[in-house]
Amino acid sequence: MNKLQTIIFVLIVVVGAIYTLSTFGNNIEMNILPENETPPPLSDLFPDRSSGPHQKFVSEESCLTCHQESMTIPGLATSPKIAHEMRSNCTSCHLLPSDQI
Ligand code: HEC
Ligand code: HEC
Repeated sequence: MNKLQTIIFVLIVVVGAIYTLSTFGNNIEMNILPENETPPPLSDLFPDRSSGPHQKFVSEESCLTCHQESMTIPGLATSPKIAHEMRSNCTSCHLLPSDQI
């Protein structure tokens, strides 16, 4: 191949790749965004209590008292810091133990 042929060949491949990606690329599941993860369901923090912090949804603020920052609750566990921006209605995603199948 001479230089011109090489340039034309590369051009056709690149344009073809861009066309293919722009047409079919939407169906490619890459899953690199954490937003595509399954929201972790709530573990039963106090199985012996019916109104513990993971048993009932009161308000976003009440959840955030323990999840705005990670904190260690002695004798219980360390709460993970909220992994995303503020979203309302926490338990629509993070299922309460009573809503889990
Ligand atoms: C009294 C503090 C406290 C409150 C209030 C609280 N949590 Fe937690 N949360 C924890 C602790 C401690 C853990 C870690 C549990 C473990 O590691 O076993 C945890 C874990 C989690 C997890 C990770 C999954 C799991 O259960 O291990 C999510 C999600 C979560 N909490 C969301 C919420 C939501 C939503 C609310 C409000 C309905 C809430 N939390 C209220 C202390 C709290
Ligand atoms: C639209 C769905 C949705 C809503 C609403 C939502 N979350 Fe999440 N949450 C997720 C997903 C998905 C993850 C895990 C992946 C990530 O984003 O990193 C997560 C992760 C978390 C974690 C980290 C858990 C761990 O084990 O590290 C905490 C804590 C948490 N959310 C708390 C909350 C609180 C508190 C609220 C309400 C103020 C809330 N979430 C509302 C979807 C949601």
